[in-house]
Amino acid sequence: MTLDTQSLNKDRQDLSKLDEIWLFGYGSLIYKVDFRFIRSEKAHILGYERRFWQGSHDHRGIPEKPGRVLTLVEAEGVRCGGIAFQVSHDVFDHLDHREKNGYLRYETVLHLDSGREVKGLVYTADADNDAYLGEASIAELAHQIYECTGPSGPNREYVYDLAAALRANGEIDEHVFAIERALLVMENT
Ligand code: SIN
Repeated sequence: MTLDTQSLNKDRQDLSKLDEIWLFGYGSLIYKVDFRFIRSEKAHILGYERRFWQGSHDHRGIPEKPGRVLTLVEAEGVRCGGIAFQVSHDVFDHLDHREKNGYLRYETVLHLDSGREVKGLVYTADADNDAYLGEASIAELAHQIYECTGPSGPNREYVYDLAAALRANGEIDEHVFAIERALLVMENT
């Protein structure tokens, strides 16, 4: 697979057939909302959890020194809380460009906090994409994140901004919070 998924994503879904288009954000799409949306609300998806297993060559790192950003991995019996955005099809040129470093759009069921279940799209980075870095210990993840920076800023800001946004939404994510704690220890030593 190439490192730029933009053309792959364009052909993945026929968005013109949908009455409502929903997008599920679980990472930077929660705290950096640089796209137009019609409405948003808290939501969750089932069977996936956040992991800092995806490499970032274009936002939070550089090709010679990739940072770490989130993807979703399958896990039984878990829920992943995030934000559902109702959007129109014209935001996807921008979003596909933003998420081009290995992410593909998948269809999934979003459980909106208001009680509705809707079909939606989510960007996830699979283990077979060229930027994938995979599992590492919390200490290793935090160390790499602490050291990396890219065109969108220091990698650690991704963690801090996300952790703050999750807390503001009442979400507990021990993977994210453990990395945040390890980073804060490094900041203070
Ligand atoms: C997302 O936020 O939903 C996708 C991953 C990211 O851009 O951090």
